[in-house]
Amino acid sequence: MAVQGVNGISVIGSGYVGTVVAACMAAVGHDVVGVEINQEKLAKLQSGSSYFYEPGLDARLRAGIESGRLSFTDDFEEAMAKSEVVFLCVDTPPGENGHPDVTSVTAAAKSIGKAMHSPHVIVTKSTVPVGSGNWLTSTIESVLPDDVDLDVFSVVSNPEFLREGSAVNDFLYPERIVLGGDDLDAVNKVAASYRPILDQSFPGGTIDAKPTLVTTDRSTAETIKYAANAFLATKISFINEIAEICEWVDADVNEVAHAIGLDSRISAKFLNAGVGWGGSCFGKDVEALAATARAHGQEPLILEAAQRVNQHQRHRLVRKLQQHLRPLRGSRIALLGLAFKPNTDDTRDAPAITIAQALTERGAIVRAYDPLVKQIPELPNLQTATDPYTLVEQADAVVLLTEWDELRDLDFIDVAGRMRGNLVVDGRNAFDASRVREAGLLYEGMGRGSVPAPPRDEVW
Ligand code: UDX
Repeated sequence: MAVQGVNGISVIGSGYVGTVVAACMAAVGHDVVGVEINQEKLAKLQSGSSYFYEPGLDARLRAGIESGRLSFTDDFEEAMAKSEVVFLCVDTPPGENGHPDVTSVTAAAKSIGKAMHSPHVIVTKSTVPVGSGNWLTSTIESVLPDDVDLDVFSVVSNPEFLREGSAVNDFLYPERIVLGGDDLDAVNKVAASYRPILDQSFPGGTIDAKPTLVTTDRSTAETIKYAANAFLATKISFINEIAEICEWVDADVNEVAHAIGLDSRISAKFLNAGVGWGGSCFGKDVEALAATARAHGQEPLILEAAQRVNQHQRHRLVRKLQQHLRPLRGSRIALLGLAFKPNTDDTRDAPAITIAQALTERGAIVRAYDPLVKQIPELPNLQTATDPYTLVEQADAVVLLTEWDELRDLDFIDVAGRMRGNLVVDGRNAFDASRVREAGLLYEGMGRGSVPAPPRDEVW
């Protein structure tokens, strides 16, 4: 037994979350089997590398496999036989009416149920609608082998708060671990799985980084996940609304955010104004929580406002370009950054997609550069450059959409010499505005003293 009290862990689904959970649980001393049914992805994982970009993950995968603690398989029977705690990490993409699509969860639950021959704790890390623990229990029960008792397993909710780009660190050094379930033994078993992280007793653990363990019931745990993401998304929309007001009154939103963030009740985090949030979680989770409210006859006023402001940001950026480049048709626009945020190759719900589409529809000639993303399925004709400087050749406007470190510190004198026009739109408020202006370029941020675009609502 590798970690006291836990006889093996399996992780069902090897996406962003599952692969990180598997690699990190092996790193803290567990014997872990990861399950992946896609053969191409499975082969990659078995060879010790991930099929997506996540800093620090490949090293952990390789170390886990070399130590013999970590393996990957497509065989549920094998995974179930080698584990007593099962982390369910399959994807829940957006489904109908705002509710997440739980097709993969249902399929995985059935495979788990059929392969259940001994006691197990099933841990839901997939973001599922509130109340899914009960539904999952019934689904597993309905396919259990005949000779197995119904109480052979328990379901515990354990929401994940991993951010792409820092997921390994977020898993190993979390601020809190939330476990929700009514079966105390099952909750304790999952807590035991996290013991090396709770105590920070694994190699590399930091005693000051001990997280808080929150134990509660399942519905509360499921709601905590949605509420956390909805709050962060709303915080971003809040500062983006303030940014627009800043434009009307000639204030600088970066300074406003800094000063209000010094109040610990507010905190400076997630107060970067710009083109708004993207990614696979915020949009989906805010919509799912709003859908839950609506399903109960409640009007989710703040959640809807947060979503509207976020859409409006993308629109506002296009309006800025329309205002300066007249006509927009035929203008050459260079997009810096395609990923929904730095240090990831993920473009799900990336502002760059909506903005590139809107600009192309309006006749602009759009090209892009991103350190990791070289093509986007939604934009098959989008041309990408090999570096930022070739990208800006003959451009009328340069637009920052993802604040990669290598893009923050561009040589703006060089950029100015290559451009045809002089407009720089800083969609992430990440450039040093004075350096841009010193190079003779026209700086336009999001709420940094620039001239506001006249409001005009438009449906994308
Ligand atoms: C998020 C949550 O942070 C994580 O806890 C959850 O479990 C999964 O969803 P992630 O989507 O990886 O993580 O990215 P995050 O770093 O939270 O950023 C989300 C989006 O908000 C990005 O598009 C980012 O650019 C944007 N953002 C973030 C801002 O526009 N301003 C900010 O101040 C912070």
